[in-house]
Amino acid sequence: CGIVGYVGTRPALDVVVEGLARLEYRGYDSAGVAVLADGGSDERELVTAKRAGKLVNLRNALDETPPPAGTLGMGHTRWATHGAPNDRNAHPHLDCSGKVAVIHNGIIENFAALRAELEENGHKLVSDTDTEAVAHLLEDELRGGGTLADAMRRVCGRLEGAFTLVAVHTGDPDLVVGARRNSPLVVGVGDGENFLASDVAAFIAHTRDAIELGQDQVVELRASGVTVTDFEGRPAEVKEYHVDWDVSAAEKGGYDYFMLKEIAEQPRAVADTLLGRIAADGRLVLDEMRITDQELREVDKIIIVACGTSYHAGLIAKYALEHWAGLPCEVELASEFRYRDPILSRSTLVIAISQSGETMDALMAVRHAREQHAKLLGICNVNGSTLPRECDGVLYTHAGPEVAVASTKAFLTQLVAVYLIALYIAQVRGTKWGDEVFAMIQLLAQMPEKVEKVLETMEPVRELARSLANERSVLFLGRHVGFPVALEGALKLKELAYMHAEGFAAGELKHGPIALIEEGLPVIVVVPPRARAVLHDKIVSNIQEIRARGARTIVIAEEGDETVEPFADTLIRVPAVPTLFQPLVTTVPLQVFACELATAKGHDVDQPRNLAKSVTVE
Ligand code: G6P
Repeated sequence: CGIVGYVGTRPALDVVVEGLARLEYRGYDSAGVAVLADGGSDERELVTAKRAGKLVNLRNALDETPPPAGTLGMGHTRWATHGAPNDRNAHPHLDCSGKVAVIHNGIIENFAALRAELEENGHKLVSDTDTEAVAHLLEDELRGGGTLADAMRRVCGRLEGAFTLVAVHTGDPDLVVGARRNSPLVVGVGDGENFLASDVAAFIAHTRDAIELGQDQVVELRASGVTVTDFEGRPAEVKEYHVDWDVSAAEKGGYDYFMLKEIAEQPRAVADTLLGRIAADGRLVLDEMRITDQELREVDKIIIVACGTSYHAGLIAKYALEHWAGLPCEVELASEFRYRDPILSRSTLVIAISQSGETMDALMAVRHAREQHAKLLGICNVNGSTLPRECDGVLYTHAGPEVAVASTKAFLTQLVAVYLIALYIAQVRGTKWGDEVFAMIQLLAQMPEKVEKVLETMEPVRELARSLANERSVLFLGRHVGFPVALEGALKLKELAYMHAEGFAAGELKHGPIALIEEGLPVIVVVPPRARAVLHDKIVSNIQEIRARGARTIVIAEEGDETVEPFADTLIRVPAVPTLFQPLVTTVPLQVFACELATAKGHDVDQPRNLAKSVTVE
């Protein structure tokens, strides 16, 4: 989500709406603003406006009914996580008295409990969001005395999960309060005015002096100055800096392309997709999925349908579902599935994977499955899109908006989603892998760090990519889950660098593709963990076979795997993780490779030629 707050001397609405426009890439499900109207008394009127859809809908509403002038305000563009993206769920949210307004980015994990407690105490909540609970908690705390900042600090102590909050209160007409746990929040320091935003892009037209808030800090923003404390109220140390990016670089967080930013965001995206889904006792909780445990127990076959990169997530899902859930699983391109006569029944679970939730081929496949009474589960990144509406249940990925056409962070979160589903079905059905499943859930929680580690070591991969910019063709080889990773690596290179690239199952090499190998041909090989000796040793032999025929071998292998060293012209290391999770770490170098190679060729990696982010035709 995108957040903006302002207090100063200018019309707050103009500053806030302009800031939101710069943050629209962070979410565009809905938008809203709150302004404290100018007035003589100490207590000012709080005016809010909010609309579903893109910012333009809110702008039109504000043009039609302009709110009273005011010099303090805040605004929000939403990327829905809890509750559908409609007017009612748009931020800001108010308390019962209409005196406190709150906007929020993130997920409050204990919101169901807080909401129940508030309702028991007589609060009436009107939206489905986790955010609204905060407005009511602030109302209760303010009754106990103190400023809005005091109330915020006390409320933050009660919240679990990831959040960034901004609040205003009619009783504190010169004060905007922000609180940060995980999601970013920056202060823009002006002269007689101050700004608050999830990203400097929102205010760099006004000031380039910024303060980045740390974890668990609260900021009090007044026209005259800024105070930062921790959640206990102790003064906090802050990091001041000067922003020298231009506006367009700022929207991309200083990166040249959204794709680079999205690749870098993957540890966070993976963490957000896990958030709230692993309980304190180590078991998975996926109640939100809208498919009951009993329904999952009745499933006897799974069919996955998807397109493009999402299809590759589906191919990986097959290995996880068969292994942990112990269910037969087929994976099919959505565009093919819909013209077949698949044998489905009420006990077939069809899982449709789509980042956008709007891909026509995927939707048609879902309708085809519906006609045959299959149970339908969507994996989707866009709350309120068509796919979740047409399915019986949905598991959302929390990658945040993906702007670059070629999918990166959404893919990693789709993998997390399929692992969660496979492990959850195993947990519910009590398969023979009980202990392994429990251990895997704990290891899954460590994946954000592993992905982060990969990102820290990507410079040699970028160098390699630049050195291969003039090649005509690159091949990718993998086995087991490394095979879909090879397909994904090849797809990225086609999409971005417009190069001939193909992924093969390493075992198929001898049945044809080996004829393609010639002197100097770059071949990227994804090597499984040593722990899977059978798989691992076979692929080491494959590397030797292609090298003997002149291929230039680029080997992706786990740290400590020395067996590959003699046969690798270039070696790319990834952290050691369980085999089924390996795509989370092995895909990242391939994304970086394709992106860098395409950039070296001078291509726009955000908008590759002939491609669209969401293909809404068949
Ligand atoms: C388009 C995009 C791909 C994406 C595919 C499926 O072709 O260019 O990057 O993987 O659609 O999109 P979906 O939104 O259904 O995951």
